[in-house]
Amino acid sequence: MTSPASISTILAPIAQDMQQVDASIRRALASEVPLISAIGSYIVGAGGKRLRPALLLLVARAHGHDGEHLHDLAAVVEMIHTATLLHDDVVDESQLRRGRQTSNATYGNAASVLSGDFLYSRSFQMMVAAGNLRILRILADATNVIAEGEVQQLMNMHDPEISRERYMRVIHDKTAALFEAAARIGAVLAGCDDAAEQRAAAYGRSVGLAFQLIDDALDYNGNAEQMGKNVGDDLREGKPTLPLIVAMQRAEAGQRELIEHAIREGDAERLPQILEIVHACGALEEVYTVARAELHQALGAAETMPGGPYRQALVELCEYSLQRNS
Ligand code: IPE
Ligand code: IPE
Ligand code: MG
Ligand code: MG
Ligand code: MG
Repeated sequence: MTSPASISTILAPIAQDMQQVDASIRRALASEVPLISAIGSYIVGAGGKRLRPALLLLVARAHGHDGEHLHDLAAVVEMIHTATLLHDDVVDESQLRRGRQTSNATYGNAASVLSGDFLYSRSFQMMVAAGNLRILRILADATNVIAEGEVQQLMNMHDPEISRERYMRVIHDKTAALFEAAARIGAVLAGCDDAAEQRAAAYGRSVGLAFQLIDDALDYNGNAEQMGKNVGDDLREGKPTLPLIVAMQRAEAGQRELIEHAIREGDAERLPQILEIVHACGALEEVYTVARAELHQALGAAETMPGGPYRQALVELCEYSLQRNS
């Protein structure tokens, strides 16, 4: 397998746009409340791949958009993502994010939740300032679906009976919805017709699904140093993600019981044994197969877009999403 281009190489055509997005985020995080600006610059300064604003920018640029509000709206998408991460790390009790201690580990749960709320509400102020009701609706809907997905996932916790379909629904809602919204907004800003907008949305949705599938595989197979977050968090929480769902279908009775027990109890001490089962039964390969099928769809959608360096970046992001290790 050839190694994919690095994310910064792929995103080179929008490097200058990205600088403006970062400037917009920095302006947006200014607050007279010192803790808010401290948490804001703490998490944003730690980096992140900036994939969701990249999708928005690439789709918009591929379709020839050169208008205003582009950078502010891309910033909004990243800020909504950051808000979900602040809340997610509280809910998941995670300790490491973007190679640093999580905000909850550093500043506490209350400060993280409230700063996440600040980011959400500041995002909505910026959307209103952009004055485009369609875009406001897309992001209001996406934000609502994300919250629904996270609550749905909470209800699935410690339940080994969760089906593949219910798992796919959760990852669609908690992750793919924002990728979809980002790509759709790019098309809306560029004034695309309905068919082109739907193709852009389909691209974002498929990349988002694949992205979360790989995230869930990496939680069993990744490297904390490369990922900048801990591995094994999902098992510790008793989260029935696809690697475990497949392993329970394929493993023999005794192994299945071990996994079921680990999901019920959130037993990370069994991680080495469970990893062995997950590997031996080919569960991770199955996760990659499902992700590859999604990315094949995404590629089909990207190939219908106008050619040039921006489309090329959207194409390369598909391979990157599959092969990424961070
Ligand atoms: C993490 O997203 C949350 C998931 C949807 C898996 P990213 O992997 O895009 O996080 P950053 O922004 O690059 O840190
Ligand atoms: C994605 O799920 C989180 C959101 C979409 C908010 P995870 O909980 O798996 O994300 P990580 O692994 O902590 O980044
Ligand atoms: Mg998490
Ligand atoms: Mg989570
Ligand atoms: Mg994860």
